[in-house]
Amino acid sequence: MNHTSSSTGHGARSDAEGLREVLARSDFVAVLTGAGISAESGVPTFRGPGGLWRNWRPEDLATPEAFAHDPRLVWEWYDWRRSLIRKAEPNLGHRALAKLESRKAGQSPLRAPANQTPAPQCSERPEHPAVGQGCFTLITQNVDGLHERAGSQGLVKLHGDIWRLCCVGCGLTERNEQVPLDPLPPRCRCGTLMRPGVVWFGEPLPEDEWRRAVEASRRAQIFLLVGTSAVVYPAAGLAELALAGARLAIVNPEPTPFDHLADWVLGGPAGEILPQVCQ
Ligand code: APR
Repeated sequence: MNHTSSSTGHGARSDAEGLREVLARSDFVAVLTGAGISAESGVPTFRGPGGLWRNWRPEDLATPEAFAHDPRLVWEWYDWRRSLIRKAEPNLGHRALAKLESRKAGQSPLRAPANQTPAPQCSERPEHPAVGQGCFTLITQNVDGLHERAGSQGLVKLHGDIWRLCCVGCGLTERNEQVPLDPLPPRCRCGTLMRPGVVWFGEPLPEDEWRRAVEASRRAQIFLLVGTSAVVYPAAGLAELALAGARLAIVNPEPTPFDHLADWVLGGPAGEILPQVCQ
């Protein structure tokens, strides 16, 4: 993943009601979330006021080179973040998206009454075959696990999972929820160092997750960008892909580089706005 920057602009709608109606009647919905959705749970964001990258440099903590140089320092930082996340609970924003997902699953065309013409299913759009998670896809850049804890099922995790450890030697991956980690840095049973199971700057995204994210973004009718500064690629590029055929809606108290391309810009906290638009 990489940083980039671009300009901001205006001219979008800001009515939650209009967005709610479009979300309710769209068959293909994709959502990309970032650190901002967990801010109200007490998990710090990376950029903006109080952001982690205000106090630390990503190149010291979130690159393969940093880990090779000082694994203990990197692990101390991740161990601290794990302790913050451990205390956090999913908020109303996470829960609203989980509810929308289950409502969309319940709206499956297979369940339509006999006198109604079923809407096309994902698998009936030949250019974009079914990805196995219905027509609602939640894509996240977050590694905190709060979407899963709120009940989201078919989550696409672009940047990995802070609760997974990977052996840099034999490649073993395991779930580990110990806080604080002991020993630090942790070692695999093969004797080699384990690393956090997250994607660092300069690394590729997990192939299967990226494919699912691209498919969902391409076929989306409405694409929701929530709590992300949208400056880290390739994740932010999903909004560009979606714009070829989808309407774009943004939920963020601060401007983003995509505001001038959006149909809706709802400037406020996700925990307040998502419950209104995901009803
Ligand atoms: N509701 C919605 N958005 C919020 C809230 C809130 N309550 N509070 C803050 N925000 C917004 C901020 O305005 C900001 O635009 O969340 C965004 C957080 O942006 P970043 O900190 O840049 O987080 P993110 O976009 O997820 O970063 C992408 O960068 O370093 C990496 O790997 C890390 O996955 C991360 C990636």
